[in-house]
Amino acid sequence: MAGIDQRIGMKLSELETPTLLLDRGACERNLLRMASFFKDRSSKLRPHFKNHKCVTLAKKQIAAGAVGMTCAKLAEAEVLVEHGFDDVLIANQVVGKIKTQRLAKLAKRARISVAIDCMEHAVAISQSAVEESSTVNLLVEVDIGMGRCGVQPGDAALELVRNIVKLPNIRFAGLQAYEGHLVNVLDREERTLRAQAAMQLAIETRDLIQSVGYKVFCISGCSSSTYDSTGALDGVDEIQAGTYATMDKQYKKLIPEFEIALSVLVRVISRPVAHKAVIDVGVKGAGCEFGLPGIRDFPDVEIPFFLAEEHCVINQCPDWQVGQLLHFIPTHACTTCNLHREILVYENDIVVEVWPIEASGKLT
Ligand SMILES: Cc1ncc(COP(=O)(O)O)c(C=O)c1O
Repeated sequence: MAGIDQRIGMKLSELETPTLLLDRGACERNLLRMASFFKDRSSKLRPHFKNHKCVTLAKKQIAAGAVGMTCAKLAEAEVLVEHGFDDVLIANQVVGKIKTQRLAKLAKRARISVAIDCMEHAVAISQSAVEESSTVNLLVEVDIGMGRCGVQPGDAALELVRNIVKLPNIRFAGLQAYEGHLVNVLDREERTLRAQAAMQLAIETRDLIQSVGYKVFCISGCSSSTYDSTGALDGVDEIQAGTYATMDKQYKKLIPEFEIALSVLVRVISRPVAHKAVIDVGVKGAGCEFGLPGIRDFPDVEIPFFLAEEHCVINQCPDWQVGQLLHFIPTHACTTCNLHREILVYENDIVVEVWPIEASGKLT
């Protein structure tokens, strides 16, 4: 039996760096805040696992009232089912024989739903499900403006439904509709109006499909940044918010009522010349597609560039010593968690738990 992790009880100042950290209180308040929003609503929370990829945190989301988990990848869904989750949505297309076989096998162990947007997807999944004697739930993905995957709303979606319902070992479960093109609209009112208008396309498509007799059990979609707008719409059933749990620098601008719980603990490793500091993290430790990290407690210190794998150079730094600890706040929590294998959870600057990130690097 593995012993207790030696880092539990350590002060943050004693840790090696870079290390991924989670502020327990902040994260718990985020989970509670989101759960409270959905408590008495018809729409329910199905959090997106891609945010943290950590089973312990996902279990806390379910304990707080979420109806199941959303995943981006089949391999993430496999991790969840392995750990006892019984209702998982893969909100993406699963393509290729090996993958449809894995999907069909997984559907023997849990309720598995997956997005499709053409007959090829549905036929391949149906064939694999027949071979495995399982049933896979299909959500027809409708493109409500993002321009990624998805059949067009209205007649094209209806046509696809008409055809897939004839296939064996699949069940038409509803629609997947994600307003991803609007999640970063900074003005909240504009974001709300545009997201609700986009989601209306999915709701109208549901009405059309139901008007000819096919039951649409669910519309699933939405992000952390539209939880209170799309999530309050009549006709939207499941909300796939992810980042609210950990938060990051980008989402703080969008939904400031949630707290930044995630940070990367880093150190100054060199002060080669006056005003310059070199930090021990680069693109291998912090996701930065949405911009460079912020530095907690030093809002005025800018990171001018962040191109190195393991280093970050700050040109105008305060009076930091070699060894100084800093909390980097990533702009993108999801890709940051995918770079790490564990999260150290802390309270009052003391490590209280170490959680593995079981689905880190699971890309297939
Ligand atoms: C299909 C899908 N649903 C929901 C989300 C929302 O996640 P978040 O709350 O992290 O923006 C995403 C984000 O990429 C997504 O791709």
